[in-house]
Amino acid sequence: MTIHPSLLSADFANLQTEIQRVPSADGLHVDVMDNHFVPNLTLGLPVVEAIRSVSDKLLDIHLMIEDPDRWAPAYAEAGAESVTFHVEAAAAPVRLARELRRLGSKAAMALKPATPIEPYADLLGELDMVLIMTVEPGFGGQKFLDLCLPKIRRARELIARRTGSDGHHIALQLDGGVSAETIERCAEAGADCFVAGSAVFGADDPDAMVNQLREAAVAAAG
Ligand code: DX5
Ligand code: ZN
Repeated sequence: MTIHPSLLSADFANLQTEIQRVPSADGLHVDVMDNHFVPNLTLGLPVVEAIRSVSDKLLDIHLMIEDPDRWAPAYAEAGAESVTFHVEAAAAPVRLARELRRLGSKAAMALKPATPIEPYADLLGELDMVLIMTVEPGFGGQKFLDLCLPKIRRARELIARRTGSDGHHIALQLDGGVSAETIERCAEAGADCFVAGSAVFGADDPDAMVNQLREAAVAAAG
């Protein structure tokens, strides 16, 4: 069970200090938005490079951008350990996943709430992680969408089948509305990697919240 605080809810004027507030994080989730794929604009490659220069934490880059085929490889080249593209935006997801892995990054595919997992079942062998959005992407602090839970269960089943056949680990990440209130049902449904923005950086003690979330997920998964 891994917890990735989302820097979207951190103080952008003090990112280095904010990163130091979550030493227990298993990774740092960085939301790149281009104001086209989603109706919001955040940060891009120069800021990711700056974060890389001050932190050895696993960088989990979530690209909410159009044309990830063109832009995603640069994040792997910048030293991100994991790069996630949205399948709704990718022209050639298999080629892109292979390119990310060739550059030394993990390759991950994200799905918006209305995007089904089944059409992509045969792509799982190309991926290190599947990200199921549990809010519509674009903003932090939205309410968790319970309607995503059946898809999480189905994704877990598909991954379990795949993992059994060739042994490689595929993480199942959730992003959106994950909190102490929602994480238990997420873990029960089969997720094992959790992004939390407002729940972590809105807490009085962000690092204690990271540990609290992980413990709740472990307990709920049984
Ligand atoms: C939203 C982003 C999320 C966001 C989650 O589109 O992808 O990573 O930071 O924020 P919370 O945890 O507040 O829902
Ligand atoms: Zn995200």
